[in-house]
Amino acid sequence: MKQLLKDKKILLGITGSIAAYKVYDIIKLLRDAGADIFPVMTQKATYFVTPLSIEISCGNRVLIDMFQEPLSHIELAKKCDVFLISPATANLINKYACGIADDLLTTTLLAFRGPVIIAPAMNWRMYETPQLKKSIEFLKSIGVEFVGPEQGLLACGEEGTGRLSRAEKIFEAVLSVLTEKDLEKEHILVTAGPTREHLDAIRFITNKSSGKMGYALARIAKRRGAKVTLISGPSNIEPPEVDKFIRIETTEEMLDKVMENINSATILLMASAPLDFKPAKLFNTKIDKKLLKSIPLKLCPDILKEVSKLKRKPFTVGFSAEAGLNIERAKVKLKEKALDMIVLNDIMQKNTGMQSDTNQVIMIYKKGKKFFEEKTELLPKEDIAGLILSKVKELKFGK
Ligand SMILES: Cc1cc2nc3c(=O)[nH]c(=O)nc-3n(C[C@H](O)[C@H](O)[C@H](O)COP(=O)(O)O)c2cc1C
Repeated sequence: MKQLLKDKKILLGITGSIAAYKVYDIIKLLRDAGADIFPVMTQKATYFVTPLSIEISCGNRVLIDMFQEPLSHIELAKKCDVFLISPATANLINKYACGIADDLLTTTLLAFRGPVIIAPAMNWRMYETPQLKKSIEFLKSIGVEFVGPEQGLLACGEEGTGRLSRAEKIFEAVLSVLTEKDLEKEHILVTAGPTREHLDAIRFITNKSSGKMGYALARIAKRRGAKVTLISGPSNIEPPEVDKFIRIETTEEMLDKVMENINSATILLMASAPLDFKPAKLFNTKIDKKLLKSIPLKLCPDILKEVSKLKRKPFTVGFSAEAGLNIERAKVKLKEKALDMIVLNDIMQKNTGMQSDTNQVIMIYKKGKKFFEEKTELLPKEDIAGLILSKVKELKFGK
């Protein structure tokens, strides 16, 4: 994976929440991405995690007291690119909204001019107070980014909204504020994963698609500012944060949802692997194995063919996972399905295609009557997603 935060300096504020121990997961993600982390703790945070372990995991000195290193609040504020506070207590959020600066963390926050991300964590009763709601509303209005809190089981044993967001979600918020929003005007419809077609009460057919390529496209498109609708078949990987997430099972359901959402889309990325055939008949019970010898099959709808019939359609990219790189066949598909681009990958190669975390693709498109082919290196799927989105942008806008 590219070191996405190489040369980036992150100011990490840690406050006195029971969720403070979760900060180590965030520190790991930030450091793995190459970030330089400067931790600042409130005095109360030191009851929950030790300054020594924070210092060692961040690789930089932890500051707590305002007078420990005079002017550190200004120096830190000047040199860092992002200020992340995770976890953030109700106390910290209310103080920041009021402009209070009575310790090193709040003073540095007030002096900081870059993007601020707050990940709150607290009991639901504290989260629901009108004071806190007002503070959050005000801070959002001045551009502060909030991640969570989430609904779920809280440390006190109660259910409610107040859980700290997952480390991956907080990490994504950091990447997002540092990423140029070059797809801000686009609404990207992405399909991902396999579909599933039932044979009887317990059996179905499907394929090995994991959804990783489609999820990577959705995640990177969102990071680059696009509005993203993601339609996903069955997949057991965590979906990215998008504007609309739609879970489907069969190819027909995928077609319906694509058609329902296509009118507002400016780009369609069909990175899913919908089944092209299914059992001709669905049995309500478990069928006898003797019958399995002759199961009649029938064709599923061809989603891209249906899309090609539309009068107004978005910039459309088809994905073709083939055994072997049959470029001529991909070119025929591009023409037949009136695609703007087709992304071809060889599922027989090591580390490419379905289930793998990496991929190597050939992007095929037409300019006038001439075909063009561009082969990528073997890269993590998120990097491949970035290259595909940049190519789409270039072809759509000519830049
Ligand atoms: C065991 C324990 C757990 C706490 N957990 C939270 C919490 O998750 N969120 C919160 O807002 N306050 C929590 N508090 C209360 C804060 O620690 C308290 O409001 C403190 O003044 C926050 O100080 P700080 O914002 O300067 O770190 C907790 C207190 C205790 C004793």
